[in-house]
Amino acid sequence: MLASTTASTTTIAPDDWDALPAAQQPDWRSHASFDRVRRKLSAVAPLVTPAEVLEVRAGLAAVAAGDAVLLQAGDCAESFYETTPEHIAAKIAALDALAARLGSRAGRPVLKVGRVAGQYGKPRSHSHEVVDGVELPAFRGHLVNSEAPSAEARRHDPRRMLWAYHFSDALMRELRARRAADPATGPVHFGPWSSHDALVLDYEGPQVRVDGATGRRFLGSTHFPWIGERTGGVDGAHVRLLSLVLNPVACKIGPRSTPESVLALADRLDPAREPGRLAFIVRMGWAEVAGALPPIARAVAAAGLPAVWLSDPLHGNTVRLPSGRKTRFLDQVVREAETVRDVLAREGLRLGGLHLETAASPVTECVGGPITTEDELAADYRTLCDPRLNPDQALELVDALF
Ligand code: PEP
Ligand code: CO
Repeated sequence: MLASTTASTTTIAPDDWDALPAAQQPDWRSHASFDRVRRKLSAVAPLVTPAEVLEVRAGLAAVAAGDAVLLQAGDCAESFYETTPEHIAAKIAALDALAARLGSRAGRPVLKVGRVAGQYGKPRSHSHEVVDGVELPAFRGHLVNSEAPSAEARRHDPRRMLWAYHFSDALMRELRARRAADPATGPVHFGPWSSHDALVLDYEGPQVRVDGATGRRFLGSTHFPWIGERTGGVDGAHVRLLSLVLNPVACKIGPRSTPESVLALADRLDPAREPGRLAFIVRMGWAEVAGALPPIARAVAAAGLPAVWLSDPLHGNTVRLPSGRKTRFLDQVVREAETVRDVLAREGLRLGGLHLETAASPVTECVGGPITTEDELAADYRTLCDPRLNPDQALELVDALF
């Protein structure tokens, strides 16, 4: 635990976000362990410190100013089974290698952020799926249930929140050790930092704390939470929760976003318009982005918002093959990211970096680069959720963009 921070932080009672509409939440409040788990999560030490959170904001402000670029990358869904020291080292090494390439292409320092140390909850488009003729609740990430195809395994189990906390703690300690071993050259440490989709409110809410030194609230579960495409309603619980905390926040911007919805999000999440507080992650799909992004970019530019712009060129480009497998085609992924970069430039804005789903090993989940046909996907396809770029494919994307 972070003994140095526990003394000065206190848990706050659930706030009004609890009463607001929240999509994509587990159905587990009647589980015998639910109340005990919530109490326990309210008492655990925060996994990040306010000082760390402020460093990430400073790094993001450097990205907003064009003095640095951001790489946010890692698994779609982290696995409870990939938390050994070897797994952790491999995840960090993969992030480092991709960041090194991005830094040398962009000629700027890279703010390194893993989808790591808490990326355990998944939003799903369908609440159920049919496996071998049996309808089962969808897998929602190891925070909520198991991927195993049985009714028992798919039951939502709140005790998973405590396991997620402990695995995240182990990963967080390793990230902290890496930062200590590679000290910052200036006032800003460029990472590796943690991030995840702040999706499951029963997990995130109890981890909102008050910093004793400043009286400000911060989210103790991660440095840099993001709000997903399906939970970004401006009047919803997720936006309300993250509007209250000190952490930098990112929002996915999908094909149904409008100039009005994006400006409203910025008003809620960054009313003071502070560089380093807010990032937009564009994830529209290669076919939609050229039409949907320009009016949004124009409105944000006209309003003078200092938000960082990132491209997630994966989530709008997921394709289901006749085999039932999900994949993504690297040429479409590259095309979306290039379009985002060029649209932003035309509006006087700047692509600040990439948000990617990447694997640390040469998996065969997306088509492109070394994987030339769909037939090759079976060789090493093992994502828990969405198909990830392998290291060669991710390098190819970075090279195409910077
Ligand atoms: C994700 O980042 O894994 C995800 C589910 O993204 P989105 O909310 O953009 O669909
Ligand atoms: Co995903």
